[in-house]
Amino acid sequence: MARFRTLDDLGDLTGNVALVRVDLNLPMQDGSVTDDTRVRAAAPTILELAAKGAKVLLLAHFGRPKGERVSTMSVSMTIDAVQAVLGKEVMFVPEIAGPVVAQSVGILRPGDIALLENTRFWKGEEKNDPELAKAIAANGDIYVNDAFSAAHRAHASTEGLAHLLPAYAGRSMEAELKALDAALGTPERPVAAVVGGAKVSSKLDVLTHLVTQVDHLIIGGGMANTFLAARGVNVGKSLCEYELAPTCEQILDAADKSGCSVHLPYDVVVAKEFAANPASVRTCNVHEVAADEMILDVGPQAVEALADVLKTCRTLVWNGPLGAFEIEPFDTATVALARSAAALSKEGVLTSVAGGGDTVAALNHAGVADDFTYISTAGGAFLEWMEGKELPGVKALEIA
Ligand code: 3PG
Repeated sequence: MARFRTLDDLGDLTGNVALVRVDLNLPMQDGSVTDDTRVRAAAPTILELAAKGAKVLLLAHFGRPKGERVSTMSVSMTIDAVQAVLGKEVMFVPEIAGPVVAQSVGILRPGDIALLENTRFWKGEEKNDPELAKAIAANGDIYVNDAFSAAHRAHASTEGLAHLLPAYAGRSMEAELKALDAALGTPERPVAAVVGGAKVSSKLDVLTHLVTQVDHLIIGGGMANTFLAARGVNVGKSLCEYELAPTCEQILDAADKSGCSVHLPYDVVVAKEFAANPASVRTCNVHEVAADEMILDVGPQAVEALADVLKTCRTLVWNGPLGAFEIEPFDTATVALARSAAALSKEGVLTSVAGGGDTVAALNHAGVADDFTYISTAGGAFLEWMEGKELPGVKALEIA
């Protein structure tokens, strides 16, 4: 694993200003934050820096305002949630650089925290403009990145700043990097990956990379239909990207060559309509799907076999549900396999790492999120990591 400076490398910070990149891209409804997971992830870093005596300036983006000041995307919308989690007052500063920030720094006492405006209100942020990065850096002494979930963006606040100030990985970033290294970097073998979700097209690079890395690739969700169809199975009116059949074959060939076993369901749950508990729901062999039926979940026999596969593995990486888990009873396979993985993790025989918005929702729904070894707060960044891509925000923190 590459080396990073962490908060362990920092002593007393009294008299210093820490610029801390966090991810406050939080889900909101009617002006209130509906999930503060990312704030809770960043809190240990913020509080540790404050406890060391730093004046802490938080940098974050919120939404995609594309270089304009959009009042509904002011990061100040998240300040109540931030204060509630930190249990401390946080000053809001409507700029990210320049004299207004400098004045605020003058007012703050050691250990105080301020939240700077949405970095994406400035055009230079997404362009990784060195001038903007320099202007932000001018008000800080050190840079701490605790936003793994934004590390796939090479922006001024996620990448540029790391080259201008002494740069450190925050506690949440550090935990993410350790967990991801344990999952795919230097994992204990055998390694299994569960990849689900609606479309093969959205996870092509993930699948292509994983077959060269893992011993077992378990494919579920709508994307399994595309693989089944590529193998000549009639999937009825299931969601299916028929045009990707040649790509699926290439992926299956590559898996064969690298000794990766690909697991596709051999029994499935089908229905004639996509609705909660429809009268037409039934379980059948994949070769028995009728023309007017759609596959909506992996079947019970396949789930049992997959649970047996997990029992032979030491490491699991999971992204995407196995079925249409948001509607009952099509959550059954996801819940059952998640519970098997959680039980093995609890016993200490499996290291399980999961990530991605839908995945975390599915594991919460199964009531097992706490039993997984690690759950990433990242969506897009987790996927890019699963694609084997270098994340610019992480790369910039590495020390030679
Ligand atoms: C996220 O919510 O996944 C991150 O904050 C990145 O947001 P973005 O996709 O708008 O860059």
